[in-house]
Amino acid sequence: MNTSHMARPSYNPIVTKALVLALAITASIEICAGTASQPALTVKQIMNVLVTPTTSKIWGATDLKTDTEWLQVEHAALGVMAAGNLLSSGGAGPGETELAAQADWQTFNNRMIAAARQILEAVAAKDEEALFAVGNNALYPPCESCHQKYQKR
Ligand code: HEC
Repeated sequence: MNTSHMARPSYNPIVTKALVLALAITASIEICAGTASQPALTVKQIMNVLVTPTTSKIWGATDLKTDTEWLQVEHAALGVMAAGNLLSSGGAGPGETELAAQADWQTFNNRMIAAARQILEAVAAKDEEALFAVGNNALYPPCESCHQKYQKR
C-alpha cells in the first residue's frame, strides 16, 4: 500500500458556506458599529443602560457605612458623567445627532454632568446630607427640564 500518497485537500461546501457567513457577519457588525466617534447608542438606550441604574444607585443611597458602599455611589456618579459625555454628541437614533447642536440640550446635559461632579465631592467628604441635597436639588432638575423639552410622548 502506498502510504506516502497524501489525500488532496477536498473542497468542502459546508465549511466554505460557514466561512462566507462568518465573514459576512463580521463585515455587517463593523458597518453597524460605525466609528468610535459616532454615537453608538440611542438616547433611550443611554437613559436605560446608564442614566437610570446609576441615578437609582445615587438616589437610593442612604445609611452608607462601608467604603465599598461609598465607592459604589462614586462609580454611579462617574457613570452619569459617562452618560453625559455620550449625550453631548446626541444619540444614534434618527435625528438624534442634531440634538447636540441645540443649546438647551447641551445646557441640560451640562447641568447633569455638573451635578454628578457635586456628587463626587459629597462622596469624597463622605457627607450623606450633601449627597441627598445634591441628588434632589442638582441632579434631578436637569432630567425634568430636558424631558419637558425633548421627550416625545
Ligand atoms: C440632555 C437631555 C436629557 C437629560 C439631561 C436626561 N434625559 Fe432622560 N431622556 C431624554 C430623552 C430625549 C428621552 C426620550 C428618549 C426616547 O424616547 O427616544 C429620555 C428618556 C428617559 C427615560 C425613559 C426611557 C424609556 O425607555 O422610554 C428615562 C427613565 C430617563 N430619560 C431618565 C432620566 C434621568 C433619571 C435623568 C436625570 C438624571 C435624565 N433622564 C436626564 C433626554 C434627557
